[in-house]
Amino acid sequence: MKTFLGFLSGLLLIPSIAFAGNPTGYGQAGGEFDIRVARVPSGELAKAKKVKPPFQPTPEILAEGKKIFLRRGGCVSCHGAEGKGDGAAAKNLPIQPRNFTNPKFKKYRKLGELMWVLKNGSMGQSGRVPGTGMLPVVQPKGFITEEEGWKALFYEMSLGKSKK
Ligand code: HEC
Repeated sequence: MKTFLGFLSGLLLIPSIAFAGNPTGYGQAGGEFDIRVARVPSGELAKAKKVKPPFQPTPEILAEGKKIFLRRGGCVSCHGAEGKGDGAAAKNLPIQPRNFTNPKFKKYRKLGELMWVLKNGSMGQSGRVPGTGMLPVVQPKGFITEEEGWKALFYEMSLGKSKK
């Protein structure tokens, strides 16, 4: 928990860094930023898309992913209990967290790109890192391991499945 609080307090710095010369809409509350824009820089995108998880999502893996999402990983604090991007910390962020129940999420993203974001953070449309509250959570000695990251991603991808 201590690590997680440290991680969150780092976020307080983001709005102040973020406000010089940002694209239109940046810093305005409400809604995700344009989901059609890849979050991986173009030079790394093709490679990132090819990265595949080392295992497949079984019901057990999804259950573990859910635990990571709701507890250890702290994803819930921004992405919300149902993954709709409405967590308690979301309103303080300059760019809103991804709503994982948005059907476009699965359409526009490959798992490998999402792993890139877990490792590098998402610059959103600011063109700079960190440009959003999505910080690099998967680090060699970091917050969650790569394996935990894949599990959380499988869980996120499973959200909102029934909706078309
Ligand atoms: C401090 C708030 C915060 C926390 C905690 C957080 N996220 Fe995010 N996340 C965001 C924001 C903000 C975005 C939207 C970034 C953007 O639009 O570029 C995002 C986007 C994402 C995306 C979508 C990236 C894309 O390419 O569309 C994934 C996947 C993701 N988060 C996974 C996670 C996982 C897994 C965890 C927990 C280990 C987590 N997040 C924790 C704020 C957070």
